[in-house]
Amino acid sequence: MKRIIIINGPNLNLLGRREPGIYGSGTMEAALDALRRRYPGVTIDYFQSNVEGLLIDKLQEVGFAVDGVVLNAGAYTHTSVALHDAIRSIPAPVVEVHISNVHTREEFRHRSLIAAACRGVICGFGLDSYRLAIEALLGAGCTENEPNNAD
Ligand code: DQA
Repeated sequence: MKRIIIINGPNLNLLGRREPGIYGSGTMEAALDALRRRYPGVTIDYFQSNVEGLLIDKLQEVGFAVDGVVLNAGAYTHTSVALHDAIRSIPAPVVEVHISNVHTREEFRHRSLIAAACRGVICGFGLDSYRLAIEALLGAGCTENEPNNAD
């Protein structure tokens, strides 16, 4: 049984109600239900926090145990050296995810401080971005405990 965790950062607890023109009207609960039904052989855990340090605590807690992490760090994507370092500190592969296509939005969203520490990045496919990230993690090679883009 593979174990994957989806970690969502700040304001993503408001999915479905938050700027639906950008993030859609679907909820994370419904997306999780659909993912768990689609991948019965995978344990899909979920964690959300608005607090940067709690995201780091969770990465450290699960990063040595799970087969992969799907991380939507929200706005911390664009600001957090600490999250970059946390991702590099754990052996589980991490896929950076965004619901919106950040490259079509404000310039401050074009830069990710965590992308270079992640195995790959998926953005712009709405809530389906999470499924695509899981596909990537389940794909060849990506569930091996290789370091996240180690030098
Ligand atoms: C986001 C994009 C970020 O720029 C933003 O701060 C978010 C959500 C996305 O999923 O599209 O909170 O990560």
